[in-house]
Amino acid sequence: MDIAFIGIGKVGFALANNLQQKGHNVIIANDNPNSDSAQTALAKNPAFKMQSVKEAISHVEIVFLATPFSVVEEVLSALDFENKILVDCTNPVGPGISHGLESEVSGSEKIQEWTPSAKVVKAFTIYGYENFEDSTYPAYPIKPVMLIAGNDDQAKDSLIPIITDLGFEAKDTGGLDQALHLEHMTLLWVKMVRRDGHRPNFVWGYLER
Ligand SMILES: NC(=O)c1ccc[n+]([C@@H]2O[C@H](COP(=O)([O-])OP(=O)(O)OC[C@H]3O[C@@H](n4cnc5c(N)ncnc54)[C@H](OP(=O)(O)O)[C@@H]3O)[C@@H](O)[C@H]2O)c1
Repeated sequence: MDIAFIGIGKVGFALANNLQQKGHNVIIANDNPNSDSAQTALAKNPAFKMQSVKEAISHVEIVFLATPFSVVEEVLSALDFENKILVDCTNPVGPGISHGLESEVSGSEKIQEWTPSAKVVKAFTIYGYENFEDSTYPAYPIKPVMLIAGNDDQAKDSLIPIITDLGFEAKDTGGLDQALHLEHMTLLWVKMVRRDGHRPNFVWGYLER
């Protein structure tokens, strides 16, 4: 599948690199050819291509968004997503690792509001990038769960094989109103690891009976 990445830093590169190695065509969507992270990504994985954001969106089926949340409104403004899937990997983080929108609304719902031409699906935020670089936990019989949320069922269904390719078990939590809870799960993981010293190589598991 052709997949574009807006933002190719720690999160973007980890996901893009593994997707490319699974046979997907990765396009870095960037209007600044001198971008540090884009140049680093291209040096690490020369199979990536780079195109302007508009050009990339028109070529792919799925766009991953992995920039700081603070720049998202500006980055997305005036872009036509042509009803394509926009995978929201961002997290609004405020002072003291609080929710950046004061827990009133999720970042994903704001992104959907800013980009009505996209089908926004929240995914790949509930862990640090270390688990996107390497999602394997060989000592366990289950895979790490990737909880997703979005208003469009078809968009979520289309994303599931990508999530599986990346080594996770996809679990649909419902509409985009669930994204706020996923963002709080992220804050829990971030506080445990980045603040309190837990090792980053731990994940959530989904057990059902
Ligand atoms: N780090 C984690 O463990 C983690 C885990 C899950 C989710 N997240 C979320 O994922 C997002 C990315 O995090 P990250 O750690 O990957 O950040 P990062 O390593 O700093 O990468 C940020 C990327 O966004 C690009 N960018 C920054 N400002 C931009 C702008 N104005 N226009 C276009 N591109 C811009 C950067 O490009 P340049 O190099 O050109 O500046 C870079 O490619 C954040 O929202 C974060 O909350 C992070």
